[in-house]
Amino acid sequence: MTTPRSLAPEGFEANPARGRFNSMFFSVMGGYIDWHMRKRKMKAFADLPPKVVELGSGVGANLRYLPAGVQLIAVEPNPYMHARLRRAARRSGVELEIRSVVGERIDLPDAGTEAVISSLVLCTVSDPAAVLAEIRRILLPGGRFGFAEHVAAKPRTPTRWSQRILRRPWAWVFEGCSCERDLTSLIASAGFTSVEVDPYRIHTPFVPFNTHIAGTAIA
Ligand SMILES: C[S@@+](CC[C@H](N)C(=O)[O-])C[C@H]1O[C@@H](n2cnc3c(N)ncnc32)[C@H](O)[C@@H]1O
Repeated sequence: MTTPRSLAPEGFEANPARGRFNSMFFSVMGGYIDWHMRKRKMKAFADLPPKVVELGSGVGANLRYLPAGVQLIAVEPNPYMHARLRRAARRSGVELEIRSVVGERIDLPDAGTEAVISSLVLCTVSDPAAVLAEIRRILLPGGRFGFAEHVAAKPRTPTRWSQRILRRPWAWVFEGCSCERDLTSLIASAGFTSVEVDPYRIHTPFVPFNTHIAGTAIA
């Protein structure tokens, strides 16, 4: 029998309970989270071409940043996100193609993509360095990676302590998400020609989630 779980690709462990919970959580809370990130996203995702690759599209938080009529290739290994993502794309008039693969092994050709975007994904993938290498591989020379991610706070700060203390339950609930990643350094050392990173804070009761970066990297 085909179940959503059986559709998960190699390298991604789909969990029926947490998969459904996260799909629901991002559907309900997506607008609130996006409201805090919108100014940075508008800059990082500006002037997108007619065809865009997105990593970890979830239930479609970034559809609102895509120009009308855009073709979106969504690299989304979690089958529990797919139905909501399809419905949201239909409502937004975005032509959607879901690739049920992990960002560590994207089934797209070398140097064939003008723009890749992601939000709140490099915190969750198993191997962010491998994902960044894949993004570079699929981008055309001069192609752009626009990102909006959350990162580790500065050492010896209350936010950093909260990230440390809550790391296990946080990762369990949010399917592997880590609030302790230094993604600025990782993106800077991933071999892009140029990188622009804007660190900022958001203010929510989800304290470990308050420290963010957004920006662009050029292949
Ligand atoms: C925290 S959610 C963010 C969803 C959406 N981008 C947003 O901003 O609301 C993380 C997303 O990354 C996806 N994901 C997890 N592991 C992944 C991987 N290895 N490659 C690509 N996407 C992955 C999850 O399925 C989920 O949709």
